Amino acid sequence: MDRYDHAEQAASFTHGADEYAAVRPGYPDAAIDLLLPGGAHDVLDLAAGTGKLTESLVARGVRVVAVEPADGMRAQLVAALPDAEVHAGTAEAIPLPDASVDVVTVAQAWHWFDERAASAEVARVLRPGGLLGLVWNDRDDDVPWVAAYGALLDEAAGGPPPAHGAHPTPGDAFTDVLRTDVRWEHVLTPDELVRLAGTRSYALVLPPDERAALLERVRTLVTTHPDLAGLDRVPVPYVTRVYTARRR
Ligand SMILES: C[S@@+](CC[C@H](N)C(=O)[O-])C[C@H]1O[C@@H](n2cnc3c(N)ncnc32)[C@H](O)[C@@H]1O
Repeated sequence: MDRYDHAEQAASFTHGADEYAAVRPGYPDAAIDLLLPGGAHDVLDLAAGTGKLTESLVARGVRVVAVEPADGMRAQLVAALPDAEVHAGTAEAIPLPDASVDVVTVAQAWHWFDERAASAEVARVLRPGGLLGLVWNDRDDDVPWVAAYGALLDEAAGGPPPAHGAHPTPGDAFTDVLRTDVRWEHVLTPDELVRLAGTRSYALVLPPDERAALLERVRTLVTTHPDLAGLDRVPVPYVTRVYTARRR
C-alpha cells in the first residue's frame, strides 16, 4: 500500500513540530558554506519549518527572512529565533517583493512543492545572479544498520518517499545547476533514534495503533542490532545533498 498522500502529509508537519525540532538533524557547516557565496546579504529560507537551517544562516551574520506555511512549525521557529523575520506563506506564493534577495534556501522541502510554480516564484524574488540552494539530509544507507532502519520505515510507508531522491529541475530561469555531497554524523541517543522514525511525514498521519507498532519495531532494531546494541550514543551517518543553481 502506498501511504503517501501529498497534501495531507505536507500539512502533517504542523502536528509533529516539537519532535521534529528535537530529533531531526541540522545541516553541516560545509553545506552552509555552499549556500552563502561571498557578497550574499539578504537570504530567504523557504519552508523554514522549525528553523533548523534558518539558525545556521542567522549565525553567519546575513539578514534572513523565513517563510513557512505550517502554524506549528512557525511557532517553534519564532520561539527559537525571536529576532528573525518570519512570514506565513508558501513556495508557490512567496510573500516577498520582486528581486529582493540574494539567496533562496530550501532545506528538505523542495519535493513538497509544485516545482514549476515554486521555480517561477523563486526566480521572481531572487536578484539577477542570485543563488537557489536546495538541501536534503539522507541517511547513509551504505551502513548496514542504517539500511535496515530505512527498510523498516519504507516497508511501513509502502515504499521510499516520493521524489525525495529526484534531481531538482528549477527551469530555464536558472543555470549552473551543481550537486555537492557532504558526509557527516548526527549523534542521537537510542531513544531519539526511535523518535526520529516518528517524524517521517507518513508516520505523523498513521492511526495511533499502527504508529505505536511501527515505533516498537524500530525500538527492537535499535536495541538488538549487533552494531547498535548497548550503545548510549549512536552516530547516525548522513550524506547531505546540496544543489545550487544561479538565477540568470
Ligand atoms: C521536512 S520539513 C523541512 C523544514 C526545514 N526546512 C528543515 O530543514 O528542518 C518540510 C517543510 O516544508 C513545508 N512545506 C510543505 N509544503 C510547502 C509549500 N508548498 N510551500 C512552503 N513550505 C512547504 C512544511 O510545512 C515543512 O515545514
